[in-house]
Amino acid sequence: MNQPIQGFSKLSKSEKVDWLISTHLNNDATARETILQYWNTHEKLQELHDGFSENTITNFYLPLGLAPNFKINGALKTIPMVIEESSVVAAASKAAKFWLDRGGFKTSIKGTTKSGQVHIKYDGLRSEMEAFFAFAKANLLQSIEQINSSMKSRGGGLLDLILIDKTTSLKGYYQLHATFDTKDAMGANFINTTLEQIAASFKELAGQYQGFSIAPPQVIMSILSNYVPDCTVHASVSCPVSDLGNINGISGHQFADKFVQAVEIARVEPYRAVTHNKGIMNGIDAVVLATGNDFRAVEAGIHAYAARDGQYRSLTHARVADGIFTFEAEFPLALGTVGGLTSLHPLAKLSLQIMGQPDAKELMAITAVCGLAQNFAALHSLVTTGIQSGHMKMHLTNMLEQIGATDVEKEHLRAEYAAKTPSFALLKESLEKLR
Ligand code: MEV
Repeated sequence: MNQPIQGFSKLSKSEKVDWLISTHLNNDATARETILQYWNTHEKLQELHDGFSENTITNFYLPLGLAPNFKINGALKTIPMVIEESSVVAAASKAAKFWLDRGGFKTSIKGTTKSGQVHIKYDGLRSEMEAFFAFAKANLLQSIEQINSSMKSRGGGLLDLILIDKTTSLKGYYQLHATFDTKDAMGANFINTTLEQIAASFKELAGQYQGFSIAPPQVIMSILSNYVPDCTVHASVSCPVSDLGNINGISGHQFADKFVQAVEIARVEPYRAVTHNKGIMNGIDAVVLATGNDFRAVEAGIHAYAARDGQYRSLTHARVADGIFTFEAEFPLALGTVGGLTSLHPLAKLSLQIMGQPDAKELMAITAVCGLAQNFAALHSLVTTGIQSGHMKMHLTNMLEQIGATDVEKEHLRAEYAAKTPSFALLKESLEKLR
């Protein structure tokens, strides 16, 4: 068994690699080569990337692809997507093209309010807590004025601070619930700094206050919430059913009916809803990653939103009414276009440039569209040809690589599998025959 190591973070990058190779990788020279071949020769760039995290030993690449032809509120956009799953970018591009001639995507921002909480414990009377908050509120707000000033000058900042009694859910539990508008920043640092200042002032004021019949309330913790049901964007596509045309061998009417039914299944059936929403996240995460935003925060917030009525459900909705097919969704998306990695990672900056330097609201809209498009493309295949024919064809490139086909062999095998679904077993057999 390996021995624990002290002071690992203090070792240089090369020393960390040496330690890893000798303790975990049996002094494997190929492993060292794998690690080193991903070091960027541009020293400054490598330093920048090392600085994004800790204990870094190398870089882990993901492909950055483009999905062009997205018509969003009348304007043409090309969407940069960072994703490792083959067929996702192709599917997004296909959906973009499909809706290009059918009115494109429409979006509207429903809200941009985020929140955070100072979580408090107090076992005394609720009336004492309320009286203290009424006494302390102005001072609490005053104490964050400096932190708030720059965000305020941009039209955002702390919007409100209220006391919420949560004692019916948990004994002695109260919270200071703060709402924020963080404008074009994702705002995590701003919110957390503000909350911690509120908590510190709360503690100080509570210590001096004479009105508690027992020991003063205790601050348990202060943190932003990644649940953002008031920071949402609506995205939709819509066209007469007659304009859907023939789709993979079925009429527009049949397609629309099956499509609506498929979305309904995801509304009522959690097993399907999770996969359905995973397909949406293929699109959303890819844009979130490409722009250096926090995909874990977005994932957590979106899935909580999908379960907000107590059951996990489809995030998208579809209907046919008066001969019009409509497909739409509202997504909670806390995204930033300034600050954090969005301003530091050269490729995140490039991604924003590709999309025409969107502000946070525009980025919310583009990201939502990409999620909706991805879901449309998945359902388009699922209710007609099935997912595997397209999927496996895209996957063919990876499989050919893995079975060790040469360029010439790849060409032969691609032609052979142009009209049939490949599998590893079939491909290996064909390769053997070819050889
Ligand atoms: C695969 O990454 C995503 C799908 O499974 C989504 C879906 O089933 O809707 C194709």
